[in-house]
Amino acid sequence: MIKRIKWPGWIIIILFLAGVVFGINQVLAKVLEETSEPEKKVVDSSVYPGLNIKTETEKTDVYTLSVSQPYTNNNQINKPIDTWVDKQKKDFTSGIKESKNMLEKNGFRAHLNIQAEPEKIADKIYTLKFQAYQITGGANGITKMKSFVIDLNQNKLLQADDVFQLDNEAQQAIRKLILEELHSNKKINTYLFDDMAKKALKDPKNWKWTVSRKHVTFYFDEYEIAAGAAGAIEAEIPMKQMKPYLNETFAKKIAVKIPEKEKSRKEEQHSEDNAKLDPDGKYVALTFDDGPLPEVTPRVLDALKKHDAKATFFMLGSQVRYYPTLANEVDEAGHEIGNHTMNHQDLTVLPPDKIREEIQKSSRIIEKAIGRTPTLLRPPYGASNDDVEQVATDLGVPIVMWSVDSLDWKSLNATAVNKEVMSNVAPGSIVLMHDIHPSTADALPQLLTSLEERGYQMVTVSQLLELWDENGVGPHYGKLG
Ligand code: NI
Repeated sequence: MIKRIKWPGWIIIILFLAGVVFGINQVLAKVLEETSEPEKKVVDSSVYPGLNIKTETEKTDVYTLSVSQPYTNNNQINKPIDTWVDKQKKDFTSGIKESKNMLEKNGFRAHLNIQAEPEKIADKIYTLKFQAYQITGGANGITKMKSFVIDLNQNKLLQADDVFQLDNEAQQAIRKLILEELHSNKKINTYLFDDMAKKALKDPKNWKWTVSRKHVTFYFDEYEIAAGAAGAIEAEIPMKQMKPYLNETFAKKIAVKIPEKEKSRKEEQHSEDNAKLDPDGKYVALTFDDGPLPEVTPRVLDALKKHDAKATFFMLGSQVRYYPTLANEVDEAGHEIGNHTMNHQDLTVLPPDKIREEIQKSSRIIEKAIGRTPTLLRPPYGASNDDVEQVATDLGVPIVMWSVDSLDWKSLNATAVNKEVMSNVAPGSIVLMHDIHPSTADALPQLLTSLEERGYQMVTVSQLLELWDENGVGPHYGKLG
């Protein structure tokens, strides 16, 4: 046993085992491999009927990557989205190749994050605002923007001419509104290059826009129309001003009143299953990251229930936004829900205000879904630094790593998962798994049986931490390496 390290405040960092070593060529090959199509099965528990989300993450010595990609059951709609996402991955791969020497020399880890913000604008009509942030070298990352407007009534992606009037006069008027909006923002105006803005707006086919009942918003990549200091740019035009230039059929469609989904907020206090643990007992905390996902999470819940086991689910805000009911089921079953941030970004490449945003945004979405704020944080990729620790301290959420990595994301094989966990588990272990791989759900019945046979009881992370606090010692305290 290791003595508890005195830690500023009460943040607890649990030692975790470093990831697997990949050669850079294998890494590049792997990124390219990612471009192959994942299986797209649409499940209907999404709050955006017909639209689902899958978050893919990856961690190597050279890069971390997370891609949240909405999909429908219509390939005509999915394909252009896939194509854009693949393009971002390819750019990232070449970026890594170009910076290979610098990455190796400085021990810097590249990062790609793709996130998509959905908005329902009418029945079965959604807009998706994509942001791809990549950083492959020194100080400067770059954010690229993209938007898609999906109409599932017609099963198509809406193009500019489906939404706007595009005669010359209307085009001119729209461009003028956008430029005025850009100039009216003091910060953007300082860095704006007018000729570049005009060029970007020339062809309506290249416009990047989303529409809601209140606004039409136009997007520009970082560096596309302004100096990098302005970042990626959004110009939001009030609907009042845009309305004269909307395609009439479309205007009618979105004028339909959209019923606000009633958010059920739980009033009653959740009866925590926090029975005191026996200080001499054999406990293990199973943790499931990156969900919830309709194809896998319910199967994990079933297996846990059969063994009367409790676990902790570190959920992504980007997933809970689509599947709040599923998050609620996890909570109702007596499991613990922790925060795994909004978009699975590598927090160590972000400034403190962005770190805070990633944690708080997700926390709010989880709170809406389950009626309580998550009290634990697991940073994506287990990546933490002084800034992350400071923000977590300020927000009052302990950071929880893991001591046993099931490597389920790597093996994608139930037998291998069982073997990995059973050969490394010890009393007090926190085990890392992911409720996004069917193979992980496959592994659980046998894993739970094996753990029981060895005398383990499966508890939540908070239960385990409470026990350690009481004892003043724990098997896995230490600073993140
Ligand atoms: Ni994760």
